Amino acid sequence: MNIQTNKMLRCPIDAETVRDKIQASGLASVGGASIRELVKLINEIEQSTGERYVRMEMGVPGLQPPAVGINAEIEALRAGVAAKYPMLDGLPALKHEVSRFCKLFMDVDVQPTGCLATVGSMQGAMATFMVANRTHKERSGTLFIDPGFPVQKKQLQVLGQNYGSFDVYNYRGAKLHDALEAQLQEGGYSSILYSNPNNPSWICFTDQELQIIGELANKYDLIVIEDLAYFGMDFRQNYGVPGQAPYQPTVAKYTDNYVFLISSSKAFSYAGQRIGSLVISDQLFQREFADLEPWYHSRQYGYATIFGALYALSSGVSHSAQYGLAAMFKAANEGRFDFVKEVSVYGTRAKRMKQLFTDNGFSIVYDKDDSVPLADGFYFTFAYPGMSGEELLEKLIYFGISALALGTMGSERTEGLRACVSQVDESLIVDLELRLKLFNAYFKEE
Ligand SMILES: Cc1ncc(COP(=O)(O)O)c(C=O)c1O
Repeated sequence: MNIQTNKMLRCPIDAETVRDKIQASGLASVGGASIRELVKLINEIEQSTGERYVRMEMGVPGLQPPAVGINAEIEALRAGVAAKYPMLDGLPALKHEVSRFCKLFMDVDVQPTGCLATVGSMQGAMATFMVANRTHKERSGTLFIDPGFPVQKKQLQVLGQNYGSFDVYNYRGAKLHDALEAQLQEGGYSSILYSNPNNPSWICFTDQELQIIGELANKYDLIVIEDLAYFGMDFRQNYGVPGQAPYQPTVAKYTDNYVFLISSSKAFSYAGQRIGSLVISDQLFQREFADLEPWYHSRQYGYATIFGALYALSSGVSHSAQYGLAAMFKAANEGRFDFVKEVSVYGTRAKRMKQLFTDNGFSIVYDKDDSVPLADGFYFTFAYPGMSGEELLEKLIYFGISALALGTMGSERTEGLRACVSQVDESLIVDLELRLKLFNAYFKEE
C-alpha cells in the first residue's frame, strides 16, 4: 500500500499509524479479515489516532432496545425467575406469541408446540443443522444460497458436516430453478439455507423465487432453513401491520418442509440478550425419520430438536429474556409496537449513503431483485472501478472508512464490499461524504 501522506493532507487519519497497525495485526490480508478481526483492527487505529471511523464492518443494531421488552424483563427478574430453570422449548407465553406472530405477519399457521426459544438465531441454526442434517444418513449437509452469513458455515465445520454454496447473483427469477436443481442433484444435501432479506447483499427473494425453492425442496425432500434475521425490513413494502397484507414473503407458502429462524437482534434491536425463535412447521415437527434414532433416541423431528439438540446445547434460554421477547411479540401482535417503523430509519439512511457512494465514483454491486431496484435497508454493497474488494477495503481504511469484503461471504463479486448502515448516524454522514470525496479525488487521478 503506497498512499502518500502528503496527498492526503485533508484526510484526518494518520497514514503511518494505519500502516503500523495493519502490520502489527499480523493479518495476511486486511481484505480477507473476518468481521471480528476487522473490528479489533479499527478499534486499535481509533484508539491510537483519536479519530472516529465511519464504521460499516459489523452488523450491530444502532437503536435503543424497546422499553416494552426491557420492562417485562425487569419485572420477571423481580418476580424471581432468575432462580428457576426455564422449560427447554420456551416459555408458554412466548410460544403462543410467536405462533400468533407467524399468523399475523406472515399469514402462516403454525402451532405453538413448534415455536421454540433459542439463544439467538445462531443457536436455532446450530440445533437445526444437528437435526435436519441427520435425517437421511446417505446425505449430508446444507446448501447455502449465497452470499451469506459466514458464521453458519463455521457451525457446520464445527459439527463436521458438509456444505455447498452458489452465488445467486446470476440466477435471479426463473433462472434460479435450473441453477438450484443442478446443485441439488450433485450435492446430496439434507437442507437449504438462505436469508431473506439477505445478509450481505440485501437482495429479497421474489415470490417466484420462493416458489422455486419450495417446490424443489418438495421434489428432493429437503428441509428449507429460512433465516429471517431481518424480518419485515424490506421497506419497499410495509410488512408491519398485524393481520393485514402485505405479509413478509416466505417459502412456507410453497412447502411444509421448513423451519424459520426469527432473530430479535435487528428487527427488535435486542442483540445483546441473545434470544431468538426457531419455528418448525407442524408437519416437519411431527415427521419421523428412522435415521434420527441413533442420535436422539427418538425418530420425531420436533422431539429430537427439543430433547436432543436444544437440551444438549444450553438446556433452555435465559428466563428473563424470554419474558422480554414475549412482551415484544405480544405488543407487535396487538398493534401496539410497530417494530418495522422503528427500524425503518436504516432504510432512509441507506438511501442517503448509497447516493454519497455513487456520487463519488462508486457503484452498487447487488442492485436489483430480478428487474426491480433493490430495497434500501440494513446493508448495501459497493465497488470502485479497477479495484478488487481486498484492495478497496485496505485503501478505505486509510481514509477512515471500514467495511467488509464480499469475498468472505460466499459472493463471486469479489470486487465488492458490504456496508452496514446501523452505526453511521447523522454526525458521521458528513465525515463519510468528505472522506469519499477525498478518496475519489485521490484515486481518480492515478
Ligand atoms: C443472516 C443472519 N442470520 C443470523 C444472524 C444471527 O442472529 P442472532 O443475533 O439472532 O443470533 C445474523 C446476525 O447478524 C444474520 O445476519
